[in-house]
Amino acid sequence: MRVLTVAVLISGAGSNLRALLEAASAPDYPARIIAIGADREAAGFEHAEAFGIPTFLVPFREFESREAWGRELGVQLAAWQPDLVVLSGMMRLLPADLVAQWAPRIINTHPAYLPEFPGAHGVRDAIASGTTQTGASVIVVDHGIDSGPILAQERIAILPGDDEAALHERIKPVERRLLIDVVRRIATGEIDLSAATAAASN
Ligand code: GRF
Repeated sequence: MRVLTVAVLISGAGSNLRALLEAASAPDYPARIIAIGADREAAGFEHAEAFGIPTFLVPFREFESREAWGRELGVQLAAWQPDLVVLSGMMRLLPADLVAQWAPRIINTHPAYLPEFPGAHGVRDAIASGTTQTGASVIVVDHGIDSGPILAQERIAILPGDDEAALHERIKPVERRLLIDVVRRIATGEIDLSAATAAASN
């Protein structure tokens, strides 16, 4: 079976990236990570070095606009021609042109049970809402904010006394498991991203 090539974009610690790197190290995993990019000097680059994966840095603050930043990010991604782009802790909204260039072969993980609590503070918002459960989701990136077709999601309880950090650390392992499984299912053809996108638009 042809191996699915994956580029991962991060902004932070990259713990979810690390889990995907470890999963992709298994000889029978049908995907491999060929490049790791970031919009800032991300701590997660250390995982790229540990696994010998090439990295690229497109510093958001060095561009005069989101669109200019997106164009350069698109050039870097095009150089690698991955079958799939995975946002795993990429904390920037991608410009519409970049999403159009890659959709639907671009997925994202989110630490909430979408469509509940989209956006950059999903964990904090869930706690603030007083609800007793949240979750983790893997979605196809579309032109909205965490609004694309849901490929996998799972409920996670919010425990009394949970603060944002504690809850987020409980959510991440679920995100990682869902992400590893979704990438595998995309690689095997079990998930058809075009069909998932078409179904969502009906
Ligand atoms: C993850 O929960 C991801 O869904 C969110 O930010 C977190 C990134 O964590 N966008 P890490 O950088 O993978 O540790």
